[in-house]
Amino acid sequence: MSNIPEKEPERQLCFMELLKTIVKDASLQKQRPLTYHVQTFGCQMNFKDSEKLAGVLETIGYVPEESENADILIYNTCTVRENANTKVFGRIGYLGTLKAKNPDMLIAVCGCMMQEEHNVEKIKKSYGFVDLIFGTHNIYMLAELLYEKLNSRKKTLIEIWDGTDRIVEDLPSARKFDFKAGVNIMYGCNNFCTYCIVPYVRGRERSRDPKDIIKEINELVDEGVSEIMLLGQNVNSYGKGLPEPINFAELLRKVCKETKVHRIRFMTPHPKDLSDELIEVMRTEEKLCPHIHLPLQSGSTALLKKMNRHYTKEDYLRLVDRIKAAMPDISLTTDIIVGFPGETDEDFSDTLDVVRYCGFDSAFTFIYSKRNGTPAASYDGQVPDNVVKRRFDELLKVCREVSEPSLMKRVGSTYEVLVEGVDENESGMLTGRLANNLLVHFKGEPDLIGKYLNVRLTECKGFYFLGDLLLDKFLQ
Ligand code: SAH
Ligand code: SF4
Ligand code: F3S
Repeated sequence: MSNIPEKEPERQLCFMELLKTIVKDASLQKQRPLTYHVQTFGCQMNFKDSEKLAGVLETIGYVPEESENADILIYNTCTVRENANTKVFGRIGYLGTLKAKNPDMLIAVCGCMMQEEHNVEKIKKSYGFVDLIFGTHNIYMLAELLYEKLNSRKKTLIEIWDGTDRIVEDLPSARKFDFKAGVNIMYGCNNFCTYCIVPYVRGRERSRDPKDIIKEINELVDEGVSEIMLLGQNVNSYGKGLPEPINFAELLRKVCKETKVHRIRFMTPHPKDLSDELIEVMRTEEKLCPHIHLPLQSGSTALLKKMNRHYTKEDYLRLVDRIKAAMPDISLTTDIIVGFPGETDEDFSDTLDVVRYCGFDSAFTFIYSKRNGTPAASYDGQVPDNVVKRRFDELLKVCREVSEPSLMKRVGSTYEVLVEGVDENESGMLTGRLANNLLVHFKGEPDLIGKYLNVRLTECKGFYFLGDLLLDKFLQ
């Protein structure tokens, strides 16, 4: 194997060439194409990673398969909360029955859960039929790992790295949507919020070179993508450690100026780093969508301190004031955790205050989940289940109450909508996304998917709208 290049991505491309022959031979033998299925758990970052996995598999000759009954099946896992783990383990058990029917089937498990040793041990012990295990840092090595697995007699090939300072790019990617795509601008997280496992499983923050980001976006635009989402765990700390100084607001300006993408979103900004410069860019650059997902986590200053969030209740409220003063029609959404250790009724009522004040269009609400290895796991004052449940239900109720007027005020107005697909629940209906990230369902034909249209909102159905397509107003 002396002719395998050391340098990336050439090395992986070389393994892909070797695998092409193997896959071709196997498919001739089976007299059908070999199939793959990638099942993704977790956040946008994982979805993006899964598109990269799919890209490698399609390059070497596998074709996509809707069901999990495929020749190669990959689970790309999440470990942010315990229920994410439970879901994965529940399903891995079932994969054993699939493999019993198709012994040639290759099962791989990767992603955030695999960065935790106890999860890998559990798979080794209880799910010996898993062929390949890798983590988050070496996901770009799928081709090499697959090649190694096919040429080794090891029952389970395991390759996990503790961390990395590498960013390997320019590998194939198979996108789920033709018209929208995620673009990583940074990897990892340095914030160490005390409840959160992400910094431990995704490693230290690394920003991509702006030139590479612009290049990727321009290539996507050439392929027909019109909406991009810039991805990172804390996008507004973008730029730290790069040789030429640049911040997130400057990156956004650059993307607006140097690419022809129609809509730009980003996920997730951290309240502590949301600068007035960023608000100003959002106010002035038309391509930037009027939506900010601004995770609150808690409205209590004391709890925020224990969470290591670096802002107070008042800081958050003042930030929302500044955002709304600059962009009155902005849509704000958030994440909130209920039941963080030591949370009192008073702390919780601070959270409700903030929710009422900010009028979020929607909120992702989570019950605190203890993650081993994080500081909060050893904090005193774990909140009893019944109290958490009561608070969680109340929070949901208040979130619903505050989102309603904010959503209702949009009924009757006409918005530009990107048609994303057919509405699975009602035939003849399409689903489209407003620039502010809200969804609308309206009558239309599937050939409109991927187009920008004007839709008048006629009714609010909780978390989405019904609308009428204004056919005389095609925008693109
Ligand atoms: N980087 C992003 C999101 C990370 S994970 C941010 O900083 O906002 C997405 C959400 O999961 C978090 O915003 C938080 O609300 C939630 N979360 C993270 N760890 C959790 C835990 N241990 N228990 C419950 N929810 C958690
Ligand atoms: Fe987790 Fe905090 Fe980093 Fe978000 S910013 S990924 S919540 S540690
Ligand atoms: Fe989950 Fe990993 Fe994302 S833990 S939330 S998939 S970074």
